[in-house]
Amino acid sequence: MVSPELAIIPRHVAIIMDGNGRWANKRGLPRTIGHSKGVEAVRETVKAAADAGVEYLTLFAFSSENWSRPETEVNDLLGLLRKFIRRDLAELHRENVRIRVIGEREKLRGDILPLLLEAEETTRHNTSLTLVIAFNYGSRDEIVRAVTKLAREVEAGKLSADGITAQLIGEQLDTADIPDPDLIIRTSGEERLSNFLLWQAAYSELLFVPDYWPDFDRNRFFDALKVFASRDRRFGGLSAKTAAAGG
Ligand code: FPP
Repeated sequence: MVSPELAIIPRHVAIIMDGNGRWANKRGLPRTIGHSKGVEAVRETVKAAADAGVEYLTLFAFSSENWSRPETEVNDLLGLLRKFIRRDLAELHRENVRIRVIGEREKLRGDILPLLLEAEETTRHNTSLTLVIAFNYGSRDEIVRAVTKLAREVEAGKLSADGITAQLIGEQLDTADIPDPDLIIRTSGEERLSNFLLWQAAYSELLFVPDYWPDFDRNRFFDALKVFASRDRRFGGLSAKTAAAGG
C-alpha cells in the first residue's frame, strides 16, 4: 500500500544533479571519481522513480555551459554518459524505460549523438518511466530555437505575429510532448535553476536539498516525494482548502 505521505506522486520529477566535484574534494579524490559516483546515484534514482510510479524523470546531465570546463573534465563527463548508455541501455530497455533526450543536437560532433539517438530509438515504444536526459541543454538556447522557428513561420506568412501563444511556444520546445515538471530537485545546497527548464518550471515545486549528488539515493528520493506531497499547489488560484471554505 502507498503510505499516506506519498498520496500524491508527481508525474514529472526533474533533477539538477549538483555537487559531484565537492563530494570528491571533501574526500581528497579527483573530481572524476565524484562524477563516477554520480552515475551510481543516477542508476538508483531511475529505479526509485520507476518504483514510485513517477512517469517522467528528467536529469540535467550536461549543460550547454559545461563545455567551458577543462577539456579533461568534459571528456570524463562525455565518457561516463557513453558508458552509461552502452552498459545500461539493455537493462533500461528490459525494465521498459523509455529514453528521451532534450538539448541542442545540430552542432554535436562525434559518436555521442548517434548513441543518444540509438537509446531513443531502441526504447521508443516502452511504457514505464520516461527517462529524459538533458544533454547539451540550456533553457535560453531552447527558447531561442523555439522562437526562431515561429519567427520563420511568421516570415513565411504561415503564422501571424498575433497568433503566437504560450501553447505554440511550448509546442516548439524540446519538451513539446513532455508534461511540465511538477517537482524540480537540486542537490548540493545551491538554490538556483541555472538555465534548466525555465519555461517549463512556471508552476513547478522547487526543492533544494543539502546532499551532494553522489550521496543522493532511493531514501532521499522518497523523502523528496514526501515533501512534494505536503506542498499546497495553487497554480495562481486558491488552495483547495481555502476554496472549500468559500475563500
Ligand atoms: C554537477 O557536479 C554535475 C554535473 C555537471 C554532471 C552530472 C553528470 C553525471 C552525474 C554523470 C553522467 C550522467 C548520466 C545521466 C549518466 P559539479 O561537477 O558541478 O559539482 P561541483 O559543483 O561540486 O563542482
